[in-house]
This record gives sequence, structure tokens and C-alpha cells, in this order.
Amino acid sequence: MVSNILMPRILEVGGGALERLAGVLAALGVQRPLVVTDPMMVELGYVARLHALLEAAGLDYRVFADTVPEPTLTSILDGVALMREGTAQGAFDGVIALGGGSPIDSAKAIGVLGHFGGEIRDYQFPRAASQLGLPLVAIPTTAGTGSEMTRFTIITDEAAGEKMLCPGIGFMPAAAIVDFELTLSVPPRVTADTGIDALTHAIEAYVSRKANPFSDHNALAAMRLIGPHLRRVYHQGDDRAAREAMMLGSSLAGLAFSSASVALVHGMSRPLGAAFHVPHGMSNAMLLPAITTFSLAAAPARYATCARAIGVATDSDDDARAGERLLAELVALNQELAVPTPRDYGIDPARFEALLDTMAEQALASGSPGNNPRVPNHAELIELYRSLW
Ligand SMILES: [Fe+2]
Repeated sequence: MVSNILMPRILEVGGGALERLAGVLAALGVQRPLVVTDPMMVELGYVARLHALLEAAGLDYRVFADTVPEPTLTSILDGVALMREGTAQGAFDGVIALGGGSPIDSAKAIGVLGHFGGEIRDYQFPRAASQLGLPLVAIPTTAGTGSEMTRFTIITDEAAGEKMLCPGIGFMPAAAIVDFELTLSVPPRVTADTGIDALTHAIEAYVSRKANPFSDHNALAAMRLIGPHLRRVYHQGDDRAAREAMMLGSSLAGLAFSSASVALVHGMSRPLGAAFHVPHGMSNAMLLPAITTFSLAAAPARYATCARAIGVATDSDDDARAGERLLAELVALNQELAVPTPRDYGIDPARFEALLDTMAEQALASGSPGNNPRVPNHAELIELYRSLW
């Protein structure tokens, strides 16, 4: 079997890595970058730090700080327009993404559309951005979506009520600055949601039908890092060792699923997020125990290995026992991290029921359920959605 592995050419990993930005840009030959970020990054002072680094390097740059959570077609339009304008001195020759998964996903789409043209739907799976575009330097501030390490972006078509999965090398960052110190101020709710997202990436990459030896090692390493540290960062946000472990785990999980793909949890999570504006990591968390229950018998050895890597089972537990422990852990984790049910989140049951058919269709069309150890049909998808209440 041959696996196609893509990754950033430069990784700067560790506390204080942000200070390496100018060197990274110089190595990539970037002199006129567009910075893509969001208002929270401005408020936290991270954009001011970026200004200082870029000014000191004498670079000509502009900032687009209006990305939104769970980016939409409309939300990226102004960024694409700015991308096409360039700076006073010429066209942009690179993009810097600063923030959580949403600004990074926005930057990926803005970079590709600004450079290659077209509309984002032109790049929706099974189509792809199949050529390298302008270099993108991704600086994640959550741990995380892993977007700094993946060939994917997710953009919501708000008119169609659909989260579009867009793959391809054009969306792969040229460099990633993985600085856990940027996550120290992330509040508990976002820490929990993004942390469960990272855990889900690692588990789904490991049980995926597209799993490969390269992704397996990265997924297991990610689970070993995330398993013991997720509760710690939720309860104690300034625990530097735990934040560092989560950040590295998130990036390794991103690397794993960039080649192995995600599976049924993500396939069902995107329609749920698009229809009811549930944050991405939270909708994954709502689904993870139920989907693991559904899938367990189809890949008992794989799920057992996940349980051992996360640290809730040992080598002396057989696969059946380890699988039970994994399920128990996922339920306990949701409880401890205060993950709401759809009802607690305020979703209207009648509207949920009315959208079941559409959500099931969108989930199947995304291709992700087909990577799952057990592939549900349309009716089973609907039952799985109903089981979340
Ligand atoms: Fe995710």
C-alpha cells in the first residue's frame, strides 16, 4: 500500500515559537503577506505581537481581522477581495493565519480563491485544490482542530445549510508555528470543545478504513498526549505542561487525519453544526460516545488499542474489556467537561426531526461515513441522530 502524506515544510514547535515568524517568512521568500485573523485575536493582543514582528522584519503586509467562527461563503468574500487588491507595493506573496480552526480554515480558502480564482464550491469533495498556491503560515491558538497540519478546509454554504469539506494540497500550510503559550488564555469551554475535537481526530484516524502505518503512529502518539491531559487543561488552564502536551497532540492528530481522513463522527457532526450552529468540537463530543458504541464491534482490536493509548485500559485488559473502558471514558469525559446534549444546547426537537433526512444525506455525501469501520445506511444515520437525545 502506498500512502500520500502531505505536511508543512517548516514546523516551529514549542513555547515562544511565535518569535520565529520572521525567519519562517524569510525562508519561504514571503515579503508581502496577508494576515487573516479574527476580532478575538486583536482583543487578546496577539495581532499587536504580530504587528511588532512584521514591522521589525520590514515587511509590507495587510490584516484581514473579520473572520467568523465556523466560516461561511459570505464571511470570506471581503478577505478574497482584499487578497486580490494586494498591498501598495504589489500582489500578496503569502498568507499568515492566526487563530483557532476558523481563521485558519478561512485563510486557506481566501488564499486559494485569491490565487486560483473560482468559488469554494469548485474545490468541494470529491473535487480538490490539487496544486500548491501561495505559502500559508498557520499559527494555531487552540489545541485544536489541527488545521495547521491538514489538507482540508471547511466552509459553510449558509444558503444551502451545508458545511463543505474541501481537500487538496492547495489547502496544506507551508509552515506551522505550534506555540502552546498561545493557548494558555483559552477559556474552559473552548478548551474542552477543541480538545475533544483533537481526540476525535486521533481516534477516527486510527479506526478509519484509510488508516495507514504513517497515520497510525501519529494517531497513537496523539492519543497518548491527549488522554492524560485533556481534563487537566479544562480544569487548570495555566498548566503549562498539560497545554504543551495538548498542543503537540492536536498537531499530531491533524497530521494523522490529513492522510487517514476522519470518519462517521465528523461526517455526522458537520450537518449538525451547519443546521444548529453547534461549535465543531462540541457537536463531535455530542456524537463520539454514540458513534463509538455503534462502531465498536466492527473494529474491536483498533478501539482497544485506542483505549490503551488514551490510558484507560492496559495490556492485561482483553479487547472486549478495553472497548468497554473506552466507551465508559468517553461518556465520563463528556460529563466532566460539561458537554451538553442537543436538548440542553437548546435545539428545537421538532426542527431537529424535520432536518434529519437532510442531515443524513449531507453526512453520506461528505464521504466521511464511508471511512468508518461500520458504515451506516440512511435509516441508520437517522436513528443515530435520534439516539443523541
Ligand atoms: Fe474536527
